Amino acid sequence: MRTPLIAANWKMHKTWPEAATDFTALEGGLAARKAVHAALPDVVVCPPYPMLALYPLLFPGGASFALGAQNVHHEASGAYTGEVSAPMLTVLGVAYVIVGHSERRRDFGEDAVVGAKVARALEHDLTPIVCVGETLDARRAGETEAAVGAQLAAALAAVPPEAAAAGRLVIAYEPVWAIGTGAAATPEAAQAVARFIRAEVAERFGAQAAEATRILYGGSVTADNLGGFLAEPDIDGALVGGASLDVRHFLRLVDLAAGRPADRPAHDGGRTAAAGERPGAAGERSG
Ligand code: PGA
Repeated sequence: MRTPLIAANWKMHKTWPEAATDFTALEGGLAARKAVHAALPDVVVCPPYPMLALYPLLFPGGASFALGAQNVHHEASGAYTGEVSAPMLTVLGVAYVIVGHSERRRDFGEDAVVGAKVARALEHDLTPIVCVGETLDARRAGETEAAVGAQLAAALAAVPPEAAAAGRLVIAYEPVWAIGTGAAATPEAAQAVARFIRAEVAERFGAQAAEATRILYGGSVTADNLGGFLAEPDIDGALVGGASLDVRHFLRLVDLAAGRPADRPAHDGGRTAAAGERPGAAGERSG
């Protein structure tokens, strides 16, 4: 059984004081939910680099959520001005790192280094959240699997089979056209690609690794649509940008992944969301 995972990608949002307030509110919210839900999903928050340092300061004894970084350099140290390495992250308590986000690939030309980053992260005990996803052009051309397959092959090329078998891979399927647009994929379309990704992992690392790998959907996830994705057999959680910025909304995503909301009636599928509680919706580029 794979534990669901809900990951927040704050991108380049929030200052140190804002992040401190939100970390504290999130920890309080999760503590309250622990008393209500039989089991919570794994929760990961990926703030900008400086705010990673808040985590050991605020939670010296650990927290109910795990810390993730939004990127990592593929070398452990060296003359790489402006970059941050895996050992710098782990000393702060970082457990996860997003690798190959489409914004890094597109805006910073990082396609070619994704495989090296994934390998370096694993070497330093970081769990990579490997992002793959097709562009709108690729989808329209019927090349979704070709595009995602090529990204996966490059990203997983240097992954030790033991790491894959131990479930240390998280793969986020994030169609580029769905990120920050308000136009999420349908659960069925996301499931089809998630199933393809799991088959690719099985092909490369075997059935046990495929069974242990968590596959997330990302791209305009909100409390209104998360339930549909989580109902799919190969989707184990979500990587959330815009809708993760408001702690109250993000906690509702946690509730949905826990199966039963802590503070609202069960089985409404999250559809009672007030419009004002939907940051990142409505077509704005939230991320
Ligand atoms: P979004 O971003 O939820 O704002 O679409 C997701 C992501 O980029 O990871």
